[in-house]
Amino acid sequence: MSRIAYVNGQYVSHRDATVHVEDRGYQFADGVYEVFAVMGGKLIGEQGHLERLAHSLSELRIEWPMSRPALMVAVKEIVRRNHVRDGLVYLQVTRGVSPRDHPFPQHSDSALVITARKSGPLDKDTLRNGVDIITIPDIRWQRCDIKSVALLANVLGKQEAREANAFEAWQVDEDGYITEGTSTNAWIVTASGELVTRNVSTSILNGVTRLAVLEAAVEVGVDIIERPFTTLEALAAREAFITSSTSHVKAVTRINGQSIGNGYVGDLTNRGLDAYVEYVETNGGPQTTDKWN
Ligand code: PDD
Repeated sequence: MSRIAYVNGQYVSHRDATVHVEDRGYQFADGVYEVFAVMGGKLIGEQGHLERLAHSLSELRIEWPMSRPALMVAVKEIVRRNHVRDGLVYLQVTRGVSPRDHPFPQHSDSALVITARKSGPLDKDTLRNGVDIITIPDIRWQRCDIKSVALLANVLGKQEAREANAFEAWQVDEDGYITEGTSTNAWIVTASGELVTRNVSTSILNGVTRLAVLEAAVEVGVDIIERPFTTLEALAAREAFITSSTSHVKAVTRINGQSIGNGYVGDLTNRGLDAYVEYVETNGGPQTTDKWN
């Protein structure tokens, strides 16, 4: 069955989905995006993704391409037309098409593309197969709270991870603290048993999955400390995991080739995954969706 994409007001075959060469997203990476998970036919974290999109758009002074309710109709229509029960929805909004010139154009309509992709249903066993992480310097800009399509540093980092046979790269700031993965948030259980993830600031993207895990943890009575942690703390950690709409809650068992804890998925990671899945199945996503930097 052929895939369908939404491009600027039209549902078109994915094969024929194209944008203009003078779209500022293409020319300048002048745009933002969101990635929604679909689980069991339901969009996860709808409100969170919309609020974060609102944050990204307003920080860059890009107009909404349409009203929020209309946008969600298009998102759901793409899920429906592509028969996605489990998978992902990608949404990009750019400042639109205009002759190439750096300043904002006087007149341009924001451009909107929505695509969807199927995956298998969330598989806890696979998520519990721990993955390897490497650490790399964080060479990104200073507004990582904006979900910009300018992802070159993230792309280079992920490629470095692949070439090191690792799943993800954790980026490290100038002070030796881990910010986040190239497309995921980073978590550890320290040697003394604290569950830690970096606090929200302009140095990280506040994950919708991260927010759901924070809320799920409260529900099951697990304390989480939101603070920066160093590479050394991560290497000495008992457990580690990553979160994102694509990876959900995924165990990490090696960092820079060194085993974390006993080298197996830890208890809090296991509980975190269960609590997260139960929480999003019940609540559809995080309820607190207003803190983006
Ligand atoms: N990435 N940090 C970064 C840098 C990210 O790109 C992402 C998401 C996250 C996690 O956010 P969320 O839990 O809302 O997915 C954290 C998406 C999935 C991507 O670029 O494919």
